[in-house]
Amino acid sequence: MDKWMASIKSKLENKEGSISVFGLGYVGLPIAIVTAKNDNMKVYAVDISTEKINSIQRAISYIEDVSDEDIFNANKNGLVTSVDHEQAILESDISIICVPTPVDAFGIPKLDYIYDVTEALGKLISMKQNKKHIIVLESTTYPTTTEVEIRSILEKYGLALHENFELAFSPERIDPGNKDFNVENIPKILGTTSENTFDVVRTYYEGIIGTQIVKASSPRVAEFTKLFENIFRQVNIALVNELATLAEKMQIDMFEVIELAKTKPFGFLPHYPGPGLGGHCIPVDPYYLQYISKKYKSTLKFIDVASDINEGMDDHVIGLIHLALNRISKSISGSNITLFGYSYKPNVSDLRNSPAIPISNKLRDLGANVQICDSLVSPDSVKYPIINEIDAKKNSTLIVIITPHAYFNWPQIIETLDENIPIVDTRGVLPNEMYRKYDIALGRPIKELT
Ligand SMILES: NC(=O)c1ccc[n+]([C@@H]2O[C@H](COP(=O)([O-])OP(=O)(O)OC[C@H]3O[C@@H](n4cnc5c(N)ncnc54)[C@H](O)[C@@H]3O)[C@@H](O)[C@H]2O)c1
Repeated sequence: MDKWMASIKSKLENKEGSISVFGLGYVGLPIAIVTAKNDNMKVYAVDISTEKINSIQRAISYIEDVSDEDIFNANKNGLVTSVDHEQAILESDISIICVPTPVDAFGIPKLDYIYDVTEALGKLISMKQNKKHIIVLESTTYPTTTEVEIRSILEKYGLALHENFELAFSPERIDPGNKDFNVENIPKILGTTSENTFDVVRTYYEGIIGTQIVKASSPRVAEFTKLFENIFRQVNIALVNELATLAEKMQIDMFEVIELAKTKPFGFLPHYPGPGLGGHCIPVDPYYLQYISKKYKSTLKFIDVASDINEGMDDHVIGLIHLALNRISKSISGSNITLFGYSYKPNVSDLRNSPAIPISNKLRDLGANVQICDSLVSPDSVKYPIINEIDAKKNSTLIVIITPHAYFNWPQIIETLDENIPIVDTRGVLPNEMYRKYDIALGRPIKELT
């Protein structure tokens, strides 16, 4: 290990050092805040969003898993926030990149955010006196991004791997809203461009963040692993969605089937049917592997099949709504349809790729008056009226359960709901005995009306 690397490692062992975090969203903000808990760590937190930087400076959190108090304490401990990359790169030794990695309208990976940060790193590392830096990418991306693409951008600035920079890929695995697992206790995979880099970066994650590090033999193996984890979920959700639509017709309860299958003590992992995929990861990440697979003349058939099934679930839900309304002699057109829960998963406000969005838009196009009952989402972020539970019970022709936030009290809602207002439960949240005459549930037997 050269003198510079040894000095960084030794500083980190003493819980000292300087780190910059680029991208302060769901992934980056918790990392910056946890690092800043260490009194002698200098943390530079950078985001191009002035709104986010202002919010941090005022100690107002915009993420469920980070409290205002956490931010207040980080600010008190000297967290440096900025929309500009310069000071952060010039004054830190390690940079952690946590920027978005979306796909465009054609499903093609959009790495522009990673490229922008890397360009800034290249330019500024080459201006540093010692011209040395360690760069850790946490954003989900396809294998070879770190070793080939990031490296070649840095080389454009006259910087050389092992001499001026080292690279690492350590995918984030957080599950926003999950009270049991967070950045401090989810084991992290780490693949680096050298053994010494592994040593130093592991010291940061284990010593400063407090998480357990699992070694990958290279950044590209770590990148592949992250995509595999999410494709595994995408494919298994598609499988259970497809089986759920058959179960409905066969008078079989898919949720009972899953509970029974779960009793097998090995080789089975439960996945649950629902109205479609949501969030930043599962609907997007599979396309990253599919994109790079083309370069290797490989065709990943499972991803397309799974996308087809998952993306068709909104139409299946519309079909269930149509059926439920038909039973009370109503049509979608002209009905007040209230969606309970609008975010992509329970107990968070995140709307990214929420299945509620295509469902509500399709209902609107069919002539429904769509309304939303979700106290977590901000009214500015949705184009339909947000109503409270009391108004939902008074003014709905039909209720659809899309995202079952924990605060919804189902027994109480059902008890006080007119039985001529059907519920379409797309998540199997209501216990069987709670379904009333006109209610229908995705994945449960669709009984004939007697
Ligand atoms: N959200 C999750 O649950 C989750 C879980 C695991 C992995 N990931 C992955 O982590 C990455 C980040 O996801 P996220 O959910 O935190 O995204 P996010 O959109 O919440 O946050 C990303 C932030 O990066 C900022 N940004 C964009 N360009 C920048 C630049 N050049 N410099 C500084 N900041 C910049 C944006 O303004 C934004 O605030 C993605 O690759 C995602 O796939 C997300």
